[in-house]
Amino acid sequence: MVFFVTTPVCIRIICSGVHIVGQRAFSQSSLKKYPGYKGVKMNYPLLLTPFHIDRLTLPNRIVMPPMVTFLAEDDGLVTRAHLEHYRRSTGPGLIIVEGTAVLPEGRIGRRQLGIYSDRHGEGLARLAGIIHAGGAVAGIQIHHAGATALVETQRRTWRHYASILLRLVKQQIMVSALVRIREAFGTAARRAVEAGFDIIEIHGAHGYLFSQFLSPLKNRRMDRYGGSLENRGRLLLEVFRSVSLEAEGRALVTCRLGIADSNRRGLALSDGLSTASALEREGARVLDVSFGSGIPASVQPEGSPYSGRLHLAHEAKRVVGIPVIGGGGIRHPDLAERALRDGMADLIYVGRGILADPAWARKTIEGRPESIIPCSHCRYCFHFTDASRCPARRQTSE
Ligand SMILES: Cc1cc2nc3c(=O)[nH]c(=O)nc-3n(C[C@H](O)[C@H](O)[C@H](O)COP(=O)(O)O)c2cc1C
Ligand code: SF4
Repeated sequence: MVFFVTTPVCIRIICSGVHIVGQRAFSQSSLKKYPGYKGVKMNYPLLLTPFHIDRLTLPNRIVMPPMVTFLAEDDGLVTRAHLEHYRRSTGPGLIIVEGTAVLPEGRIGRRQLGIYSDRHGEGLARLAGIIHAGGAVAGIQIHHAGATALVETQRRTWRHYASILLRLVKQQIMVSALVRIREAFGTAARRAVEAGFDIIEIHGAHGYLFSQFLSPLKNRRMDRYGGSLENRGRLLLEVFRSVSLEAEGRALVTCRLGIADSNRRGLALSDGLSTASALEREGARVLDVSFGSGIPASVQPEGSPYSGRLHLAHEAKRVVGIPVIGGGGIRHPDLAERALRDGMADLIYVGRGILADPAWARKTIEGRPESIIPCSHCRYCFHFTDASRCPARRQTSE
């Protein structure tokens, strides 16, 4: 089955093992008090240094980014397979649970994880509990696919909902539907907080709902949600406020923002960066940076060891003062450490690396990176829903 998902300023002083980011400094010996740090070896002094975002302490700077698993029940409920998937992946300082649908009609597949009813709460609380038990900060990404949502037809096959939802983006109709979406994000935030998540991430990237609104190519509305950048970004900022209101004082709110499209007529990098600044002004305490609809080739200098996604994160770091999560294409912890040293991002996400070897972070912490089963970047996982079919995963026993 093919679902997915292509695709869909902080001062840093490093001297003698003390690293100061923003407001706090950590000595390496202070690591011992953090859960999950028994036997830590400091081969990666930046990557394995704890990181504070407000009241939250991430025990290291490795992030497991959201990655849909399609392991849920048909109605989006958490399954045992989910619990096992996240239990096996513990080690990163922050784990952001996969794109979780805020409305059934906003899903990208029947078995996508959901947060659109109170029935989802119990399973999500167990998920958050497993992540906390592994010593990580627990985040969850809340998602609406917009015009790329799939719905079940009367013949029980799944097809794009574009005929209805594309009109949301293209025309002046159905502001009431936008209100429903905004309220659904707010309610989802309430459920996420009640389930025990520390960070709530709005999915604003990868060609989904907010990327569609931000893109002048896709957004042809003539009302206050289309036209100028301010209008195209209005829905995202309204949703951000609605989520922040529910989460206030109980969870941090962030956005995975697609800050540029590959198509020159799509979202320009300068507009994406302005949106990043607007989110910071709205109260975002951390920003997860990715692309909108495709990565502009121009962001990646020839010969760079870093992915286009990571260069986008670096661009965002130039304009915002909050910590930036970036990554993409990181297979080995050496490259993650180097990216932090080069100031590409403040936190590094490792997606397929952890899918291929769920013990990626633990092996890094224990100073045995040579035993990591590397992701071959074959990209199969972009096209299947069964992690056991990953060629690297087949070799993984931990
Ligand atoms: C199977 C799979 C599912 C994904 N699902 C999501 C998702 O739910 N939300 C999201 O923002 N990104 C998703 N992504 C993108 C990843 O979070 C990450 O940004 C991307 O894989 C690049 O990082 P990597 O090179 O370390 O894998 C997914 C990626 C994969 C491989
Ligand atoms: S080895 Fe292939 S299928 Fe497995 S995580 Fe890497 S890209 Fe995905």
